[in-house]
Amino acid sequence: MSLLEVKDFGVEFHDHLTPEKVVEHVSFTIDEGEILGIVGESGSGKSMTALAIAGLLPRKKLIKEGEILFEGKDLLTMHRSELRGLQGDEICMIFQEPMTALNPTMKIGRQVEEALRIHHKDMSPEDRKKRAIECLVNVELKDAEAVYESYPHELSGGMRQRVMIAAAMVGHPKLLIADEPTTALDVTVQAQIIKLLKKLNEKEKLSILFISHDLSLIEQISDKVQVMKNGRIVEQGSVSQIFKEPKEEYTRQLIGAIPEVKL
Ligand SMILES: Nc1ncnc2c1ncn2[C@@H]1O[C@H](COP(=O)(O)OP(=O)(O)O)[C@@H](O)[C@H]1O
Ligand SMILES: [Mg+2]
Repeated sequence: MSLLEVKDFGVEFHDHLTPEKVVEHVSFTIDEGEILGIVGESGSGKSMTALAIAGLLPRKKLIKEGEILFEGKDLLTMHRSELRGLQGDEICMIFQEPMTALNPTMKIGRQVEEALRIHHKDMSPEDRKKRAIECLVNVELKDAEAVYESYPHELSGGMRQRVMIAAAMVGHPKLLIADEPTTALDVTVQAQIIKLLKKLNEKEKLSILFISHDLSLIEQISDKVQVMKNGRIVEQGSVSQIFKEPKEEYTRQLIGAIPEVKL
């Protein structure tokens, strides 16, 4: 059984006069320790798919179709309390702009510990701090103790994204969803974050859904890739198949658009 199995998933918005389908017939799996890259132009439905898996799509205004099975259980129909038990613990998500996800008035340490306070209530404050520091070290932040005591504005963009990854990892998640996690960062920092995610994938057997519009990042990090356009999957395959022998004209065009100078 795959860790995650998305079956014929779709999203339809109902807040306009005519209902609008923004994701249709999306099916894929992610196994334990596997990295799936989703690539596609803006508006192709990448974030909708990611948010649905993270359980973060609002239940109002949209209709969801198909199934999203996590360890065999459908996230779309499971009881709210069961879903809340998975969110932020077994399934975690990081976003493009860590500054908006971090609370500017709260010290980093407290924010990294947040998921432990929600999901592991029996942990002592000392153990929570120990685990938070361990995670800050794991994401290769120097002087983790000082970072623990600092506020978000005292850190660089790259450090803030590392903090978000540490906060996501704190409960030993099985699946990390990373939606354009490096888009706001400059190129060298992007490469470091990719390396870090790869390391966590190998060390912790973490499965990753990595979303980007940047094909060169997708090629660097992914085991397998799917290309999306207009809410549908255009092509899916192993990273070498997609990049060396793309079947679809659209994929060929995307790859043709990668600048020659890579990271
Ligand atoms: N609140 C909304 N109401 C209607 N359509 C929306 C809403 N939010 C997003 N969409 C549409 O859903 C489609 C997919 O969006 P999204 O998943 O964010 O794309 P991506 O992440 O690939 O850029 C887009 O066409 C977008 O305009
Ligand atoms: Mg998006």
